[in-house]
Amino acid sequence: MSKQFDVIVIGGGPGGYIAAIRAAQLGFNVACIDEWKNAKGGPALGGTCTNVGCIPSKALLQSSEHFEQAGHHFADHGINVSGLSLDVAKMVARKDTVVKQNNDGIVYLFKKNKVTFFHGRGSFVAAKDGLYEIKVAGTAEETIAGKHVIIATGSNARALPGTPFDEVNILSNDGALRIGAVPKKLGLIGSGVIGLEMGSVWRRLGAEVTVLEGLPTFLGAVDQQIAKEAHKAFVKQGLKIELGVQVGEIKSGKKGVSVAYTNAKGEAVSLDVDKLIISIGRVANTIGLAADVVGLALDERGAIVVDGDCKTNLPNVWAVGDVVRGPMLAHKAEEEGVAVAERIAGQHGHVNFNTIPWVIYTNPEIAWVGQTEEQLKAAGRAYKAGTFPFMANGRARALGDTTGMVKMLADAATDEILGVHIVGPMASELIAECVVAMEFRASSEDIARICHAHPSLSEATKEAALAVDKRTLNF
Ligand code: FAD
Ligand code: NAI
Repeated sequence: MSKQFDVIVIGGGPGGYIAAIRAAQLGFNVACIDEWKNAKGGPALGGTCTNVGCIPSKALLQSSEHFEQAGHHFADHGINVSGLSLDVAKMVARKDTVVKQNNDGIVYLFKKNKVTFFHGRGSFVAAKDGLYEIKVAGTAEETIAGKHVIIATGSNARALPGTPFDEVNILSNDGALRIGAVPKKLGLIGSGVIGLEMGSVWRRLGAEVTVLEGLPTFLGAVDQQIAKEAHKAFVKQGLKIELGVQVGEIKSGKKGVSVAYTNAKGEAVSLDVDKLIISIGRVANTIGLAADVVGLALDERGAIVVDGDCKTNLPNVWAVGDVVRGPMLAHKAEEEGVAVAERIAGQHGHVNFNTIPWVIYTNPEIAWVGQTEEQLKAAGRAYKAGTFPFMANGRARALGDTTGMVKMLADAATDEILGVHIVGPMASELIAECVVAMEFRASSEDIARICHAHPSLSEATKEAALAVDKRTLNF
C-alpha cells in the first residue's frame, strides 16, 4: 500500500514549498516532491528562485555593485582604493554559498513543519477512489497517493528557435549565473528583467555589454516616464541597448558567438561576442508531469489552465506560480501557494493581482505597483500624477545616489492611489509602503499626512504624494 497524504505538492520552488508549509500549518499531512539536483546530485530545494533565479542573481548584483562602488564611487567619499582586483571564482563561490544557505533553510522549515520531502520527479499515474497516485522517480522509485495535489512545477528559459542553450557560449539564466571569467564582450538578447539584471552584473565587472531588444520601446510594461529615466542611467553606465532589432542567424564556435541581426534602421549588422545570454522570457514547465494521464488541461502555451482560485479542470488538483497565468514572480507564486492551502482547508485565501509589486534590481532599481500612466490613459481613467526627484531628497544626497524619482498616480475624483512607480535608490524597499497603501485603498493624501522619518528615502514617497496635490515642500 502506497504512502497516503492529505496534500501532495509537486515542485519545491517558492510556490510549492510555501504551499506545503502553509498546508502543514493548517493541520494537513503533506508531502512535497522536488527534482532539483545540486552539483553532487543531492536535493536543492527552492526551485528556480533559489538555485538559478532571484537569490543567486541578487548575490551577484550585490557583489558586482560593491566592485563598481569601490572602483568608481568610493573616491567621491574621500576613500581612495588602489590595487583593486577581482576574484570572479570567489564571487561565484560566495553566490553558491548563499544559494546553499537558502536550500538548507527550506530543509529545516520542512522538518519544523513536518512536511515529508521526496527527491525526484513526480508524475501522475492514476486517479482513483478520490485519490491521485503520483510516482516519484528519484534514486529509487515509489508511488504515493494524495487527496489534493498542488502543482508548482515552475518555468524554464525560452530558447530562440534553432538556437538551443549550450550553457557554454549560449547561455540561459543558469549559465549566465555561472560564467567563470569576465567575458570581454557579452551579448544579451532581450532587454527585459533578466537582460538588465545580468547585463548590469557583467558590465560592472568589466564586460562590454550589448543588449538586443526586439521591441521598439524600452521596458514597454513599465511606466514610460520611469523607463526613460532608467534607460538614460543605463546608457550613461555604458550598457549598449539596441531597440527594435530583428535577430537572425546565430553562429557559435570556438571564438565565441556571432549574431546577425537587422537594426531599427533596417540595416543588416552583426554582433560578435564571447558569450551570449538569451533572456526572451520563460515558458511554463510541465515536463514529466504526465498531465495527459489524468487529463489535466493545458493552454496553447503549455501553462496549466486554472481559474481565479488556482483550481484546474480536475477535482482537488490545484496549480500555482510560474506554471499558470499571471506574472512570473516568486512572491506571486508564494501568495498563490498560501491561498490554495487555505482554500483546501475551507478558508478564503485571496491574492490581489492589482497589488503585486515588481522590482528590477539594477542600479538605479526600478519598482512599481498598480497601473502605469499609459494604462490609465488607455482605460480613459481620470487621474492626477505627482513626481518627486531623489535629487531633492537629503538622504539620497548623503548616499551620493540621486538618480531617479518617485511617481504617484491617484484617481482624479477620489484620490485613491492607482499606481506608484519608482526608479532610484532602494526602490525595492520603498515600494513596500506603496503596496500596503494600495492594499488598504489609501489616498495620496493619506501618504502625504503620514510622518516619514528624516532623512530617509521614504520622504520622496511622501513628497510624491504631496506633489499629486501640487504642494511639495522640498522641491
Ligand atoms: P520554480 O521556482 O521554477 O520551482 C519549480 C520547482 O519544481 C523546481 O525545483 C523544479 O525542479 C521542480 N519540478 C518541476 N517539475 C517537477 C516534477 N515533475 N517533479 C518534481 N519536481 C518538479 N522573481 C522575483 O519575484 N524576484 C526576483 O528577483 C526574481 N529574479 C529572478 C532571476 C532570474 C535569473 C530568474 C530566471 C527568475 C527570477 N524570478 C524572480 C522569477 C522566479 O524565480 C519565479 O517566478 C519563481 O521561481 C516561480 O516559482 P515556482 O514555485 O512557480 O517555480
Ligand atoms: P522578460 O519578459 O522580462 O523580457 C524578455 C524581453 O525579450 C522582452 O523585452 C521582449 O520584448 C524581448 N524579446 C522577446 N523575444 C525576442 C527576440 N526574438 N528578439 C529580441 N528580443 C526579444 O523575460 P526575461 O528577462 O527572460 O525574464 C523572465 C521572467 O523572469 C521575467 O518576466 C520575470 O517574470 C522573471 N524575473 C524576475 C526578476 C525580478 O523580479 N527582479 C528578475 C529576473 C527574472
